[in-house]
Amino acid sequence: MPVATVSPDLHIVVLAAGKGTRMKSALPKVLHRTAGLALIDHVIGSADAVRPSSIVIIIGHQTEQLRGHFVRRPEVHLAVQEPQLGTGHAVLQAEPFLEGKTGTVLLLSGDVPLLRASSVQALVRHHVECRAAATVLTATVDRPDGYGRIVREDGSISAIVEHKDASVEERTIAEINSGVYAFDLARLFGALRQLGSSNAQGEYYLPDLVRIFRAQGFPVETVSLSDPREILGVNSRKELAEVSAILRDRKNDELMASGVTIVDPATTWVHADVVVGPDTVLHPGVYLEGQTRIGSACEIHSGVRIIDSTVGDRVVINNFCVIRQSAIESGAQVGPFAQLRPASRVAENAHVGNFVELKNTTLGRGSKANHLAYLGDATIGEQVNVGAGAITCNYDGVAKHQTIIEDGAFIGTDSQLIAPVRVGRNAYVAAGSSITEDVPPDSLAIGRGRQVNKPGWAARAKRKRD
Ligand code: UD1
Ligand code: CA
Repeated sequence: MPVATVSPDLHIVVLAAGKGTRMKSALPKVLHRTAGLALIDHVIGSADAVRPSSIVIIIGHQTEQLRGHFVRRPEVHLAVQEPQLGTGHAVLQAEPFLEGKTGTVLLLSGDVPLLRASSVQALVRHHVECRAAATVLTATVDRPDGYGRIVREDGSISAIVEHKDASVEERTIAEINSGVYAFDLARLFGALRQLGSSNAQGEYYLPDLVRIFRAQGFPVETVSLSDPREILGVNSRKELAEVSAILRDRKNDELMASGVTIVDPATTWVHADVVVGPDTVLHPGVYLEGQTRIGSACEIHSGVRIIDSTVGDRVVINNFCVIRQSAIESGAQVGPFAQLRPASRVAENAHVGNFVELKNTTLGRGSKANHLAYLGDATIGEQVNVGAGAITCNYDGVAKHQTIIEDGAFIGTDSQLIAPVRVGRNAYVAAGSSITEDVPPDSLAIGRGRQVNKPGWAARAKRKRD
């Protein structure tokens, strides 16, 4: 039989109506974040691999916050389940959104964020190939307590028995229901209406569909996961931390395999989409977030946090810097204790030293701002030296203004450049100046009170006091 391609008629239903009581949170459980994304977005992300034509999320609590989260994703439909009468009852709420459609329904849980896209693909592929009424994703675990058990007859799945309903003998079964399934949409809702709730929890159990389909003579299949950790769910803050650590390790393993040195993987947190080049070294306590790209042979020291930024090759970022929506080009050095705020660019071989803040500023090639400076809304050319304590006064209380410093200029220490203002090519600004007017190229600007020395003043003053 040729390998069937994934059905284009694929619909995702995500269960997320549970209360999440154990999180003890004002935030809906599935909106808690791990590795930079809400739990529910991890789940939807793994489903994206099978390119669903529709997504329905079943919600039940804090529905306004959930609507807010998806406000910019109109393709995601939210169905409210109220009251919550069990997982079978939850899936029924998706019916109005799937009316007139055919194909496969992939059922996921909003609080199970570790499921790999490849596992989802394998489940759907097997389901479609076998033309099954239902396919259950199963796992074999050391401690099956709490899970539904997979009961088999002659090797084939015949039922799923919930832990609370299971006999002593059934409780010894180590193969469990992951809570992830593929269903034939044409048969799903008819079967759901046949569910009863006479069980230990008085709920409409979705897994009972296995028994119903088997009784009707429809094929039910299973696909088993090789790594049972993929189905870990988040019910508490402790489990959230456990899941976060697994996601962290996955990414770090991937980076190390591709040639990145991670000195202490347990304290290095890199989001899934981040790219890091080979021979770059990440020291302990580094955070690389969002859409960040780091080149090769860089050294990123402890306590550095980089968000949505681009870093070239051979860049050194010393300890404790925060870099957001900025670019650092090859050979540059930054920090320690520097902050690059959005839209900053540190060009090739430029240096940004300790206690320097850049905002919406370009520091040109080979230029240096080594100590204690604020450079905001500034365009700084090449080979410029910005002295210690220099400040661009970019804000007049109403509007922001530009400072332009041309190539080769020298800005003396403790100067204020009161924007809008331009310092010409190769010009000098004397230390301690307040510069309010443009400085022509090649000139020296001195903008400070003239010094007056009063000889003998101190001795006279002392005599007066005595
Ligand atoms: C369920 C399965 C069990 C499986 C386990 C895997 C049932 C009856 N049992 O058990 O076989 O081993 O998952 O984790 O399905 N939810 C709703 N509405 C409801 C009830 C639940 O949306 O009325 C949602 C929850 O938010 C959660 C998911 O469904 O995302 C699973 O519910 P939960 O109560 O955690 O199921 P388990 O008892 O763990
Ligand atoms: Ca339950």
